[in-house]
Amino acid sequence: MDKYVINGGKKLFGEVNISGAKNAAVAIIPAVVLCDVPCTLRNLPNIRDVSVILSILESMGAVVTRYDDPSVVTIDPRGITSYKVNNDELVAKMRASYYLLGALLGKFGKADVPPPGGCKFCKRPIDLHIKAFEALGAEYKDIDDRIVLESNGLHGTEINFDPVSVGATINAILAAVKAEGKTIITSAAKEPHIVDLANFLNYMGANIKKAGTDEIKITGVKELKGPAEDSGEEISYTIIPDQIEAGTYMAAVAATGGEITINNVTSQHLRSIMKVITETGAKVTVISDPNKPYETVTVARRGDLRGCKNQVITSPHPGFPTDMQPPITALLAAANSPSTVVEAVWANRFSYVPELRKLGAEIDENKSSLTIHPVPGGLKGGTRKKPVSVRALDLRAGAAMVVAGLAAEGVTEVEDAKYVKRGYEDIVGKLAALGADIRMVTYKEISDDQDE
Ligand code: UD1
Repeated sequence: MDKYVINGGKKLFGEVNISGAKNAAVAIIPAVVLCDVPCTLRNLPNIRDVSVILSILESMGAVVTRYDDPSVVTIDPRGITSYKVNNDELVAKMRASYYLLGALLGKFGKADVPPPGGCKFCKRPIDLHIKAFEALGAEYKDIDDRIVLESNGLHGTEINFDPVSVGATINAILAAVKAEGKTIITSAAKEPHIVDLANFLNYMGANIKKAGTDEIKITGVKELKGPAEDSGEEISYTIIPDQIEAGTYMAAVAATGGEITINNVTSQHLRSIMKVITETGAKVTVISDPNKPYETVTVARRGDLRGCKNQVITSPHPGFPTDMQPPITALLAAANSPSTVVEAVWANRFSYVPELRKLGAEIDENKSSLTIHPVPGGLKGGTRKKPVSVRALDLRAGAAMVVAGLAAEGVTEVEDAKYVKRGYEDIVGKLAALGADIRMVTYKEISDDQDE
């Protein structure tokens, strides 16, 4: 098992490069199953979720070519000849393995996949996914705890989601992209990674319109072959930057004070996060260069860290992302005035709060909201000999512990770092380069993993 040891209270300065978006990568890699030619993906984050989903594709017959640069892979999906996924153990390691349902159903008209895993921050139903598959013409069966979908060919249809679901929207797109006729998805999720998935599929030859709005229109196509062969263009797609990773570094520097430059971001994806960070007293500046594909954001906090006067309420994009809720709560727990955080996406995503209290955080938990009180003297870690030990209960809960540990004077140990590692590329290296006193200690083999 791994743990982070953080000697907190050090201001952060310098530059950090943001990696490709985890949630886009784990949707686009399964989407390659639908393609009829090999394609190269760039800007993949070097995290466990990506290596697991790549291994799953390999176990299904795809050929994955890796390069010295770990952010690039070429996937040749032509060896995938069965709609059945047999590698139960790998599939159970991640939530996003359920995108294989939509991808295999879209490719073969059938799918047979073991149940997905995933961060267990609360109950995570898949009824909306099944509803979308059924609307497209598939029959759903639960056979020996496996998700089995059968059809005599899918046909376009209207699908409405309530509540808005990121995963079900992605699965509906994957299943509909080669279905006969037109599919209209209403109340679709609008997250940046949904637009990225649609852009990837359109680049490969799909006909998906208005991704990023709440009504997505898909006209089924027969093939996904990428740019025409005679164009000489390499079949290669670059994944968008990770908004949650960028937001986490913003929260970290707002919590510690200092000034950092965050490279390779898309500020449009970060609006709701930047608004909250600004409210805490940090100065956020976006630098755009028309010659560069991505932007840079600087975040500086020199004065006091304030709580947020406005409630921080999570909601689907373009609202404040639920995945930023734990790290932002950690930031606000270190502030000198109160804040309220409302979780409106997941029924209960506050299981990490008792861990924050170990660092002195004063937080009242109500049903779906937190009232965060200022702590006189700030958050407190322990000594080298007697550190305060907290647990990363899942990926973003773990990110919250890192932010709190950086802010707290003294030593904090974050146990179960494996959860953080699966979503943040080289978080220790990136934070250490910013001046944080953080190191990872490995004291046992990593076991049993679940992703977001
Ligand atoms: C994705 C993200 C996750 C993020 C979440 C919300 C990935 C790999 N994970 O998860 O990090 O926290 O979006 O932004 O991209 N729901 C149902 N029935 C369903 C599906 C969902 O009722 O069949 C409900 C859920 O209980 C939840 C809400 O819909 O209350 C949103 O969930 P959803 O958007 O589906 O989350 P995920 O796609 O699992």
